[in-house]
Amino acid sequence: MKNILKSFSFKQTGSFLFVLSLLLANALIFWIYLLNEEKASISISDRIIFIGGHPRSGTTLMRVLLDVQGSIYCGPETRLLEPLMILSTNLSERFPPNELLLRTRIFAKSIKEATASFILHVLKTRNKQENKILCAKDPPIVNFMDKLVDLFPNSKYIFMVRDGRAVAFSLVRYQRLEFNFKNYLDKLKEWNYTNNKTMTLCNKVGPKYCKMVKYENLVLNKESVLRDLMQFLELKWNDRMLNHEIFMNSDVELGRTEWSNSQVVKPIYYKDSRKDWTKEIEDYDEKTIRKEIPMLKFFGYF
Ligand SMILES: *[C@@H]1O[C@H](CO)[C@@H](O)[C@H](O)[C@H]1NC(C)=O
Ligand SMILES: *[C@@H]1O[C@H](CO)[C@@H](O)[C@H](O)[C@H]1NC(C)=O
Ligand SMILES: *[C@@H]1O[C@H](CO)[C@@H](O)[C@H](O)[C@H]1NC(C)=O
Repeated sequence: MKNILKSFSFKQTGSFLFVLSLLLANALIFWIYLLNEEKASISISDRIIFIGGHPRSGTTLMRVLLDVQGSIYCGPETRLLEPLMILSTNLSERFPPNELLLRTRIFAKSIKEATASFILHVLKTRNKQENKILCAKDPPIVNFMDKLVDLFPNSKYIFMVRDGRAVAFSLVRYQRLEFNFKNYLDKLKEWNYTNNKTMTLCNKVGPKYCKMVKYENLVLNKESVLRDLMQFLELKWNDRMLNHEIFMNSDVELGRTEWSNSQVVKPIYYKDSRKDWTKEIEDYDEKTIRKEIPMLKFFGYF
């Protein structure tokens, strides 16, 4: 009997110690987590300029203008950065940092660093990069601005905005949809949604990081808009930017899939003033647009 009791209490003490050591081990891991995840931030000092906005908002024109400036290489769309950021965001949402460390001994910070290294490597080793300032033009990339700022403290974001009515018209035509009001309004709703989202992010990261540029302003007041932009980017002014079309063949490569190739090879001119959509979209209804697309008013298009 005594023996049984003895071994029982021994067992109990044993399991108590076991639980205690588990708790201590987890507390230790949590402490390591706090030390590594919270205090240390990723420090990649490379400058990267990101250009984005809703499709057909002048992102290609913007990157071509930067490409003729001389010290930057934007090049064609990378197309990789958006799916990468979706994956990276998904991973961080699926595995909360402390749980990730506890179960897998992987720091959430490592995933962030891996994402940053991937982007940096891909941009640094591009053909024609030639040690210029890194730049990536991918329309949807601005929707990850807040996350990218965290990875690249020296990055800058150019958010292109163009009148949603012109954008919707251009998209309906490009996608060969019927020129009816329903298709047109659907495109405007998408425009409304993404521009609200991007503007919200742009405000969140603040004016040090994000600059909204209206396509119409850029086209109509090219020099003042570009000079202001160069200050934001902390880059030198270059007169070549005023006549980018002269350098199109020699210095600027166009991507095969960029929609706007036929337009950016020409001198800049303002064509939205013709407002073709009012004539060509069947049952065009400005009243409905005013009511349903408040972002147009927000950006001053009404
Ligand atoms: C991440 O992606 C997986 C696989 O595509 C999906 O099942 C999951 O719902 C996503 N998780 C989040 C948080 O988006
Ligand atoms: C357009 O954006 C506003 C925010 O500015 C939002 O409240 C509204 O629901 C959006 N409308 C549509 C049709 O997406
Ligand atoms: C975006 O939409 C939300 C919800 O409708 C609204 O509260 C917010 O003010 C909008 N943001 C901008 C920048 O218009």
